[in-house]
Amino acid sequence: GDDSTVCITIVGASGDLAKKKIFPALFALYYEDCLPEHFTIFGYARSKMTDAELRDMVSRTLTCRIDKRENCGEKMDQFLKRCFYHSGNYDSEENFTQLDGKLKEHEILAGRISNRLFYLSIPPNIFVDAVKCASRSASSANGWTRVIFEKPFGRDSDSSAALTRSLKQYLEEDQIFRIDHYLGKELVENLSVLRFSNLIFEPLWSRKYIRNVQLIFSEDFGTEGRGGYFDHYGIIRDIMQNHLLQILALFAMETPVSLDAEDIRNEKVKVLRSMRPIHVDDVVVGQYKGHTRGGQSYPGYTDDKTVPEDSLTPTFAAAALFIDNARWDGVPFLMKAGKALHDRRAEIRVQFRHVPGNLYNRNSGTDADRATNELVIRVQPDEAIYLKINNKVPGLGMRLDRSNLNLLYKARYAKEIPDAYERLVLDAIEGERRLFIRSDELDAAWSLFTPVLKEIEEKKVIPEYYPYGSRGPVGAHYLAARHNVKWGDVGVDE
Ligand code: BG6
Repeated sequence: GDDSTVCITIVGASGDLAKKKIFPALFALYYEDCLPEHFTIFGYARSKMTDAELRDMVSRTLTCRIDKRENCGEKMDQFLKRCFYHSGNYDSEENFTQLDGKLKEHEILAGRISNRLFYLSIPPNIFVDAVKCASRSASSANGWTRVIFEKPFGRDSDSSAALTRSLKQYLEEDQIFRIDHYLGKELVENLSVLRFSNLIFEPLWSRKYIRNVQLIFSEDFGTEGRGGYFDHYGIIRDIMQNHLLQILALFAMETPVSLDAEDIRNEKVKVLRSMRPIHVDDVVVGQYKGHTRGGQSYPGYTDDKTVPEDSLTPTFAAAALFIDNARWDGVPFLMKAGKALHDRRAEIRVQFRHVPGNLYNRNSGTDADRATNELVIRVQPDEAIYLKINNKVPGLGMRLDRSNLNLLYKARYAKEIPDAYERLVLDAIEGERRLFIRSDELDAAWSLFTPVLKEIEEKKVIPEYYPYGSRGPVGAHYLAARHNVKWGDVGVDE
């Protein structure tokens, strides 16, 4: 049997993230029998709401997995019965004391060790107040208390360090769970499996065989409705400093001593600290502009009412990064991230070196690039891992083409892939810290990006404007070309 209870309090329960991700993730975990037997969920926010109203709001956010429709309605009802609401201010110890009273009622019924998880789904300027109140007035008396945070964790080295210092007045490091939800994505988790449990990849994983690595994030929509947040941060802070850099660290780290959280995070920190400072010439910034196509018009970034008309905030960036260690010396890691582009995708592309003395390049007149292998890890959508190889076109002649060894998840696994938040919330409950960002990791990530962000902002670098729905600024191609790289996502032979 399970002799503990867990109370999960979502602070900021009526916000977007709570509705889109947190409640649905909790329900999916419940459906899969992954939550502890004795659990209670509390929504906490300022607005007045009854338990029934919260349940009604939550019920509209829940969905069933495609392959698991049976009893889903019944399960939802059971789940909703375990959800409650408490209204209060984020900076009121008194209100958190009242919450504590309610949590205790549920815990006493179960008569067991009572653990508490707080999920802060609120703006960063009230993180510290909420943590102070939660830790002083609503910490568990006999079990653990953990707090999940979402970025932004500051906006540069100083503000991030100040935030961590403030949090540590009330929490120990092992109570802090900083989410980078990209780490919860199936293919990002799989990176280590791919590398460390297949003989054929790890030996190639270095400057000896890899020419360059590309980390690409693109969205086919703009900052609609989030302009207020976004304008203060920009795409480098929103995507590169965290999601793409985390993927880079996992991709490039040395073999960890074990799969323990501290061992893995130690290796990631080493990679981050081995990175060469980013030169401002190695960054291209862009911003999308309004555009009409096929009778439909698309807004520019600054058309958003919450964005200043003269904003220079980048909605696109490309950058060349280097890891100055023995494994990766000289290998460009190219990042590209943008909003309002022509498609939505996130992928890692690994371009391998040319085959030395390739027999098949001698007379065939094929473009040398075609002979280069490329491994693509498509994080989303349509998860896949494929390897581009050269292959003989069947027939009596000797003609080569480029084909894919293809692992398409939806063809191979008849299973819906869990949302990243399911994995992360479950790990937080289980105390598994592998996928959360440790303080020193966060510091290292900021140390890398802070100087170049400062320079871009102080120099008021004008972004290269690109039409909504396009492939983004051409500057990204010149940047890549300077490092002898061609972006792999513009080919037509996928
Ligand atoms: C968030 C960013 O961290 O990630 C958003 O703040 C972005 O701007 C989102 O849209 C993308 O996440 P996903 O999981 O939809 O790729």
